[in-house]
Amino acid sequence: MGSGAREHALVWKCVQSELVERVYCAPGNGGTGGMARNVPIGAADVVRLVDFARREKLGLIVLGPEAAVDAGVGDALRHAGFNVFGPNRGAGRIESSKSFAKKLMRHAGIPTADFETFTQPLPAKAWAREHDGRVAVKADGLARGKGVIVCESVEESENAIDAMLVEQRFGRSGATIVVEERLDGPELSVMGVTDGTEVLALAPARDYKRAHDGDTGANTGGMGAYSPPKAVDDAVVQEVVDGVMRPAIAELASSGDEFRGVLYAGLMLTEKGLRTLEFNARFGDPEAQVVLPRLASDFVALALAAAKGDLASHPELRWSARVSVGIVVASGNYPDDVAMKLGHRIRGLAEMPPGVLIFHAATRFDPDSGLVTDGGRVLTSVALADTVAQARQTALAGARKVRFEGAFFRSDIAEEAI
Ligand code: AMP
Ligand code: GLY
Repeated sequence: MGSGAREHALVWKCVQSELVERVYCAPGNGGTGGMARNVPIGAADVVRLVDFARREKLGLIVLGPEAAVDAGVGDALRHAGFNVFGPNRGAGRIESSKSFAKKLMRHAGIPTADFETFTQPLPAKAWAREHDGRVAVKADGLARGKGVIVCESVEESENAIDAMLVEQRFGRSGATIVVEERLDGPELSVMGVTDGTEVLALAPARDYKRAHDGDTGANTGGMGAYSPPKAVDDAVVQEVVDGVMRPAIAELASSGDEFRGVLYAGLMLTEKGLRTLEFNARFGDPEAQVVLPRLASDFVALALAAAKGDLASHPELRWSARVSVGIVVASGNYPDDVAMKLGHRIRGLAEMPPGVLIFHAATRFDPDSGLVTDGGRVLTSVALADTVAQARQTALAGARKVRFEGAFFRSDIAEEAI
């Protein structure tokens, strides 16, 4: 379930499985409709999803977005006896509450930035001042990747704290905040498939969160990614599995919150070593679009093993040696929802150069105008190749072919690795 490019990549991967008879996507988008049956049910519409699962006797259900996890879709479907890949709401708090995640990290000894949790502006500002304003101010709740303000000065930190606690610009999500020390270094996304006990790491990726080239502009849900990132070898991934993933999964399990699905760790490689910035309770977007095409193993077999608590008997994952680059094409003014203009006709998809995979996100099929834009991140252009330079050229060529009013994309994704 879900409607992003992540879900299109998941559908694309699922239909390749020999175990699969039929794939549905609720609600899906203009891309998933071409390879699965779109079902007009929202990803968080618990009652109708359970009904649908019963009627169609679904063999496996994969939760795409955090909204599904947080609505308790996993709990309801598990309770009804289905195999669900995606955690229950309780375990999903590792994403839906930053303060929950930070306390869990502290308790489990997972390396992370020093922090405090606040509901009042004055003590929050005092803590930020002690750190010379070099802090990250984070809305506790879900904010679609936009609830973090990284600050340079005392003034910036005070504005950020006021925006959340006083002006309530993030609504209830920002009524509690986490203020943490600001870290520096390259970022890294590692996702692991887990059944609550075992964990199999997926290939690492690097996400580009800022809207524009050179890491400028606002934080977005993610403007592109590539896999594997420069200077990230198996030893780094193993360190994440042993020092971050396993302790987090064990800590959740010990409090009765078994986690079955994909656990995503957002990390920073600082001078002092690896630090965990955040967890997500689902695949990253756009990480899924660059990692799933490199996975040579059957994803459905993997997800089913995790859903059944049977990951120990699953063979090691196989990976393509090719590297991947994904570039998000977005609507003008994204991530500013207010200024964004939607409903523009999308052209150029029939002219894709060979080797380009297009994963749709905010696209919708309109009976009159054909495929139109329907949100901020419209689609991801992905390419695999033997070298990063080749993959990047092809993914860029794909992104350039996509034409709609106001379209933009970053041209520097993966450039650092060339
Ligand atoms: P999060 O949603 O917690 O991953 O934060 C979103 C983005 O904000 C991260 O990908 C980082 O780029 C940045 N960020 C988060 N925490 C910190 C931190 N402690 N220091 C510096 N940057 C951060
Ligand atoms: N790309 C970051 C996320 O999915 O949250």
